[in-house]
Amino acid sequence: MAYQFIDVRTEGEVVGVITLNRPKALNALSNDLMDELGAALRAFEADERIGCMIITGSEKAFAAGADIAVMAKYSFADAYGGDFITRNWEVIRSIRKPVIAAVSGFALGGGCELAMMCDFIIAADNAKFGQPEIKLGVIPGAGGTQRLPRAVGKSKAMDLALTGRMMNAEEAERAGLVSRVVPYDKLMDETLGAALQIANFGRLAVLAAKESVNRAFESGLSDGVMFERRLFHSLFATADQKEGMDAFLGKREAKFTHR
Ligand code: CAA
Repeated sequence: MAYQFIDVRTEGEVVGVITLNRPKALNALSNDLMDELGAALRAFEADERIGCMIITGSEKAFAAGADIAVMAKYSFADAYGGDFITRNWEVIRSIRKPVIAAVSGFALGGGCELAMMCDFIIAADNAKFGQPEIKLGVIPGAGGTQRLPRAVGKSKAMDLALTGRMMNAEEAERAGLVSRVVPYDKLMDETLGAALQIANFGRLAVLAAKESVNRAFESGLSDGVMFERRLFHSLFATADQKEGMDAFLGKREAKFTHR
């Protein structure tokens, strides 16, 4: 499929890379761009060869948020009646394979929310995160007030949502929003390294690990631990469990078959 606002490629035959490409608007997330992103995510999800995905942007901007030029004209009826922001913003939540955000430059508003919907964030040292919607007379609308406090705690989430200030990569790592910070010129190497590692592990264990960590945000501790234990038990039915453990004991590299 030909895309206008994103570039799509595969790396090492097992990693799907989606690059947001709307440079004139700093990758502002228009409906058309989000439709294309949704389609690309679904295509990689359906492709058996792909084991992990990366979403990235340009050096200057991961994404500067929802498209203000479009939103500026919206009425309440357009926003509420049209269920603005739900359309295709939720696709990423239904993706079962891991999705890593490789963030350079601005990740603001919907851009920060999109990064937070990914499974983890690797940031370049020039990354800037924020929820500046308050400056536009609105609030975050794609999960920012919910995912940010879960990631960085109430105080910093309130600070960012109420003042609209940006947080740099170092502060974001300290606060737990991002998992690693690397120099900009190492961002894709670092992220691809992680993605290739994940894609080459046993696929069923990878899906189970993602599902189980996500469960931590949706359940109480006892329910979450029981959910994890049942998934853990079920992995003993896989060929990859036999292979992984045999390989360890045989002091050799495991060759997972995703079965
Ligand atoms: N929507 C539409 N266009 C945008 C945009 C956005 N979110 N962000 C930047 N642009 C456009 C600018 O209008 C500008 O276009 P022109 O060249 O045609 O004038 C171009 O991108 C470059 O931007 P700047 O000239 O402003 O670049 P800068 O380097 O001076 O500033 C910036 C960069 C600080 C990111 C600034 O562009 C900015 O503050 N952008 C808006 C960020 C924002 O408020 N995001 C939240 C949007 S609301 C939202 O996302 C709701 C939600 O929760 C889903």
